[in-house]
Amino acid sequence: MNTPLDGRQATAIAQAAQALADGRLLGLPTETVYGLGADADNASAVARIFSAKGRPSNHPLIVHVAGATEAEWWPAVQHYATDVPDFALRLMRAFWPGPLTLILPRREVVGAVAAGGQNSIGLRCPSHPVAQAVLHAARPLGVWGVAAPSANRFGRVSPTTAAHVVSEFEGVLSDTELCVLDGGPCDVGIESTIVDASRGHPVLLRPGMLTAAHIEAVCGQPLRARDEQAPRASGTLESHYAPQAKVRLMDAQQIQSALDVLGTDARHIAVYTRSRVNSASKHLVQRAMPDDAAACAQELFAVLRAFDDAGVKLIWIETPPPAPEWDGVRDRLQRAAA
Ligand code: TXA
Ligand code: MG
Repeated sequence: MNTPLDGRQATAIAQAAQALADGRLLGLPTETVYGLGADADNASAVARIFSAKGRPSNHPLIVHVAGATEAEWWPAVQHYATDVPDFALRLMRAFWPGPLTLILPRREVVGAVAAGGQNSIGLRCPSHPVAQAVLHAARPLGVWGVAAPSANRFGRVSPTTAAHVVSEFEGVLSDTELCVLDGGPCDVGIESTIVDASRGHPVLLRPGMLTAAHIEAVCGQPLRARDEQAPRASGTLESHYAPQAKVRLMDAQQIQSALDVLGTDARHIAVYTRSRVNSASKHLVQRAMPDDAAACAQELFAVLRAFDDAGVKLIWIETPPPAPEWDGVRDRLQRAAA
């Protein structure tokens, strides 16, 4: 059993930074979800991320860079990217460190494996203090950035605690291959918002807790929707983020009617709703969905995992409200249900 290191300890940070410099993999806490990280410039370490996840090698990874200020993150941006458009710089200044990933034209000589062969690269400066501490400590050891997809097996629910990371890679990666840093439960809970800034105008590739309106206000131009020219991206596959149980999105009345039909027979079913629903069954697994989108995002993946752990076969979820602050949560739930 892999025992996570306590990310509040300076010795743990030093050990994790050394693991990255040595070409090992690191379970890295960020404010969004935990990542499975490696030195982005170490092709064989990055290749091991793809194989451990079971992820196709042409699905590009996000590279995480250190920096509390522009003076700190800008050199790392320049290490990986070129031709950074003005609107992208404005977005970085407004939202970094934070839950925003920018796709930028890639410098040809760096990060090819991490970029999955694309001529662009995804960059993010995370705000989690433990992530920042490791990225800072790894920098003098020659690590410019840490390539890290979410630390889950391909297609499954992203991890939001160190224990989730350990359980994802149990039997896949040994304790010497994987070092996990514990930074507590993630604050945001769903993955970063991704904006493609490699095509001259901003394109939203993946919604997150930074909404389209936040981004447009800073860009000063409309955010376009993704089209068929956008590169293949795991988080944009129709089916993704799926727990073992089958997920269905329904409105509250549909869930109530289905429970009424089953009566005392509702077994192996979990419901996650904002509205009150009642069941005559003692076996129903029930959990209230927060009315607040941020609170829902924060707990969402842990709730889906807990339903799986309870052994349910079906998860009935009340469709999130149509409001823009729910875009990120709605997107994850639609993919989980696909
Ligand atoms: O919040 C997050 O973004 C988390 C944490 C760990 O930072 N990471 C994450 O990584 O969600 P991952 O690999 O699960 O999702 C990254 C997404 C994928 O959809 C990937 O295809 C897209 O980013 N991506 C990365 N580089 C890209 C590129 N050059 N072009 C297009 N999409 C890219
Ligand atoms: Mg992922």
